[in-house]
Amino acid sequence: MDVATDEIAAGVYRLSVYVPQVAPPAGFTFNHFLIDGDEPMLFHTGSRQMFPLLAEAAARVIPLGKLAWISFGHVESDESGSMNQWLAAAPKAQVVHGQLGCDVSLSDLADRPPRALADGEVLDIGGKRLRWLATPHVPHGWEAGAFYEEEDGVLFCGDILTHAGRGPALTRSDVTGPAVQTEQMFRAMTMAPNTGRELQRMAALAPRTLALMHGSSFEGDGAAALKELAAFCEGEAAARA
Ligand SMILES: [Fe+2]
Ligand SMILES: [Fe+2]
Repeated sequence: MDVATDEIAAGVYRLSVYVPQVAPPAGFTFNHFLIDGDEPMLFHTGSRQMFPLLAEAAARVIPLGKLAWISFGHVESDESGSMNQWLAAAPKAQVVHGQLGCDVSLSDLADRPPRALADGEVLDIGGKRLRWLATPHVPHGWEAGAFYEEEDGVLFCGDILTHAGRGPALTRSDVTGPAVQTEQMFRAMTMAPNTGRELQRMAALAPRTLALMHGSSFEGDGAAALKELAAFCEGEAAARA
């Protein structure tokens, strides 16, 4: 395994690991984002096993001693598994997540106390403003949430729009079609009554870049991509009701 590093938006570095054994034959990417600023953030820690590989790649972008924030959409091995390894390697860093995630899991799981954000609260990391969006159960996990970077319109949407295969780091091509196909294979999303609504709320921000955890990041009409996924999820939720 190796790490491909690409700057997908100003000061946003995608550290991507391709694993051909997951979702064969296309394989699957695991993407971790370093968001540079006066107080840099890592979004998605990667699994415990991937830590040495990712730490080495991250240190080529910023000194780990400068890393200030560690975050992720929800608690799961690929999202947050190596949280404590990062806390040990980056002595100034603190985990930041929604209030619910901190109360339910992270106040206990994290080796140093986490910083809790309210829904809609902005974390100013110096040069970038990251707004926390609490999206309970969307795509999955009670504590689920996303960050919206307001300066450049980048939505860090985690597992939302997950698609298999190893495409380019950043694409202007359709990602919703491949994401619907992958969802039909994985059934990873919670098709809850609020799923469509949460996706519509993200679409209303009109993001220009969607930073995806699995698959190519997307540049273009982020609202259209999210609305299309919302329509699919609303149909699924209705069919399963
Ligand atoms: Fe997940
Ligand atoms: Fe994930």
